[in-house]
Amino acid sequence: MRISVIGCGYLGAVHAASLVELGHEVVGVDVDERKIHALCQARAPFYEPGFGDLLRSSLATGRLSFSTDIAAAAGARVHFVCVGTPQKHGEYAADLRFVQAAAESLLLVVEAGDVVVGKSTVPVGTAAGLATMFTEKVPGTSVAWNPEFLREGFAVRDTLYPDRLVYGIPEDGERIVGILDEVYARIVARGIPKVVTDYATAEMVKTAANSFLATKISFINAMAELCEATGGDVKQLADAIGYDDRIGRKFLNAGLGFGGGCLPKDIRAFMARAGELGADQALTFLREVDNINMRRRIRMVELAREVCDGSLLGKRVAVLGAAFKPDSDDIRDSPALNVAAQLQLQGAVVRVTDPAAVDNSRREWPQLDYVATAEEAAERADAVLLLTEWREYRELDPVAFGEVVAQRRVLDGRNALDRDAWTAAGWTYRALGRRVG
Ligand code: UDX
Repeated sequence: MRISVIGCGYLGAVHAASLVELGHEVVGVDVDERKIHALCQARAPFYEPGFGDLLRSSLATGRLSFSTDIAAAAGARVHFVCVGTPQKHGEYAADLRFVQAAAESLLLVVEAGDVVVGKSTVPVGTAAGLATMFTEKVPGTSVAWNPEFLREGFAVRDTLYPDRLVYGIPEDGERIVGILDEVYARIVARGIPKVVTDYATAEMVKTAANSFLATKISFINAMAELCEATGGDVKQLADAIGYDDRIGRKFLNAGLGFGGGCLPKDIRAFMARAGELGADQALTFLREVDNINMRRRIRMVELAREVCDGSLLGKRVAVLGAAFKPDSDDIRDSPALNVAAQLQLQGAVVRVTDPAAVDNSRREWPQLDYVATAEEAAERADAVLLLTEWREYRELDPVAFGEVVAQRRVLDGRNALDRDAWTAAGWTYRALGRRVG
């Protein structure tokens, strides 16, 4: 099937290449010339394990192309909308500017029988609005909502091997179900669960899932606050409650909390939309989820001040990690960079390192100093902070690493280091929600 994908960021580029892998002929369209140029040359415009290989193999089939010209999408039967929906500046609500622009450009190329499929995370009601617009302007076209649950760092796997498919369709949308089943034939054949529902439910599935995940993280981080007050150990607490199948251990890793381009802005947009719909009370708990999350960053800075004998002024602090999570170069709402900037504001001499996100960080946070390796960051440091749990940091040898620093003080912002090994090597180990090591 010939398919177009509008928007070639994380979601769109991975989706386009995956659709080729699933047997289709795909054109990816984006207004960003730099991005399209890189993709055409088989260069991934962002760091994502496995995506470079998938892109190269998909381009090699001759069934994948990229363009900045929407005209290239003409002739496709299905058009996926994969543009970003960032948080509006100074507001909680989602900015739908890119969705609107993508829809308007698609109006120039769609024909009767075509299906426009939204994948972006949008406020409830967006799909219905777009459906009215498309069917009025180009009769015979239809709109479906098919949310995507990919995680950065696992984007290729999550796209090719999703754990469920969700189709939001209009009434009498059976034809659309058939078309989407054809798009995902190889995935459907594996017998994975499929939920066929209305637009509003499909739109909500994504924000509800992300809200649940954010709540789970903030729950354990609230328990970490209590552990700090009581002398308990949040890691053991998470293990013990996680053995209960109904709770499960996943997403109970206490630490600096969530960041990135999805969870923070999705819970805020969800609250904003609930308010517009007169149902704000249903989601007031998400405000607390957000508050708990932001408090962890402040606590991390306090902890750094505590271990540095009560003052950060002039102290040399190494920050390991800048990306919002490992295996990503994404620094959107990165807890690590937020903490690094706060430390600097309090007078610390901060050196930040990250295996993939230094270039992006330098662009967005030019006031911070960046170095290439953990050893350089830690040279003569008064304290080392692990803020993004990349494997190379988790596997640091505390004995050898101890030779580099001025003071063996480590703050484990992700509860990812082996406390016993670090304390045995003479380090003062501190972590959020855990006893002093
Ligand atoms: C998330 C959702 O998982 C995904 O389904 C959705 O499509 C997009 O949003 P992503 O933002 O890529 O994906 O990352 P995720 O792995 O969910 O982590 C989000 C944040 O939570 C990271 O900052 C991570 O460090 C943090 N986190 C995660 C914790 O603090 N503790 C945990 O136990 C798990």
